[in-house]
Amino acid sequence: MSKKTVYVGMSADLVHPGHINILKVAASLGEVTVGLLTDAAIASYKRLPYLTYEQRKTVIENFSSVAQVIPQATLDYSKNLQQLKPDFVVHGDDWKVGVQAKTRQRVEELISSWGGELVEVPYTQGISSTQLHGALKEIGTTPDIRMKRLRRLIDSKSVVRVMEVHNGLSGLIVERTQVNCEHKLLEFDAMWSSSLTDSTAKGKPDIEAVDMTARLATVNEIFEVTTKPMIFDADTGGLPEHFAFTVRNLERLGVSAVIIEDKIGLKRNSLLGNDVVQQQASIESFCDKIKAGKLAQITQDFMIVARIESLILDKGQEDALIRTRAYIESGADAIMIHSRKPDADEILAYCKAFRKWGFNVPLVVVPTSYNQITESQLSDAGVNVVIYANHMLRAAYPGMVKVAKSILANQRSAEAETDCMPINDILELIPGTH
Ligand code: SPV
Ligand code: MG
Repeated sequence: MSKKTVYVGMSADLVHPGHINILKVAASLGEVTVGLLTDAAIASYKRLPYLTYEQRKTVIENFSSVAQVIPQATLDYSKNLQQLKPDFVVHGDDWKVGVQAKTRQRVEELISSWGGELVEVPYTQGISSTQLHGALKEIGTTPDIRMKRLRRLIDSKSVVRVMEVHNGLSGLIVERTQVNCEHKLLEFDAMWSSSLTDSTAKGKPDIEAVDMTARLATVNEIFEVTTKPMIFDADTGGLPEHFAFTVRNLERLGVSAVIIEDKIGLKRNSLLGNDVVQQQASIESFCDKIKAGKLAQITQDFMIVARIESLILDKGQEDALIRTRAYIESGADAIMIHSRKPDADEILAYCKAFRKWGFNVPLVVVPTSYNQITESQLSDAGVNVVIYANHMLRAAYPGMVKVAKSILANQRSAEAETDCMPINDILELIPGTH
């Protein structure tokens, strides 16, 4: 009689005794095929794994209890199960509730249709991937791992969600904030070092008046307490010769991408549009800057994103598309298109043309003014990265002003207390306080 076949679906990011136990049970039933979830399959319902698919495959295929490893491209098992028609599927019994409950039900229905059986192994107490993820976050990360993560996120997620940060505390909020929405764990994928909010937090206008040394000190402060990747707003990038140094500095710190905008002269914030004097760079000079940056970078992973200001300056769609082509041909790894319109019409029209013209680099948008549009609508239009560019700082400021006014008006702080975080909470907030 030929050996029975067993299918085990797993992510196997941080392998622990729970995984070993499942594989042991599986091997006792027959020949084990592991359906290893791809980065995209995992990112569809929780955070991207630490290890890449290839790294995870290397670990699992070297277990003597595993005969082969194949990719499982979705959370749903159906495709692989229909192909293999295994006698058994083995899984931990912790998937009966939550995001995997439906997946489990489909597995049970499918496998019984050819007389197979679902075997559930009791959950191993005292250890879980979630705990290990928490412990890893406390250890921190390396510049190399952090930098590479942005490209992995773009490759595996329908849309990469990025939130503005301007100091260690806002970095910690973006690092830790999670909400459970329809059984999916939602969090921010990456951080945006905004020139607007870094300048504002320092009490300066957004005109490249905060020098690069100060900007990099902010990045360092944030990196000390976070592990998520960062996209850095380098304004115009300055002179090409200076931009080359910026690229090297950012790469060394472990920043994943820099965005430079095609403007020259005194840079003003884009959302001011033509209410102020703003001048767009010539295509040729901006292409030279992109090339200087690409020449300076050392790793394969760092990304230079060209930001097109044609719509901001009312130069029209055609101008934006001509620039798109030129910037990509000069080596831009991605394009950011900006708009200050209250609705998304011009952005959606650009996205449509962008894909129609056959550009196949990632597309980045900043929906500050056209804030009605959802991430999934943008993703459907072909957008890869959505940046919430200033919201942490804009949220903090009104709270501070309110409390300052209350203390002045009441000449004591009692009335302001309800608008303030309790002292005990703030002492608990930061690890290492005690
Ligand atoms: C920033 O956040 O600094 C930006 C985006 O560059 S915007 O303010 O919309 O120009
Ligand atoms: Mg900016």
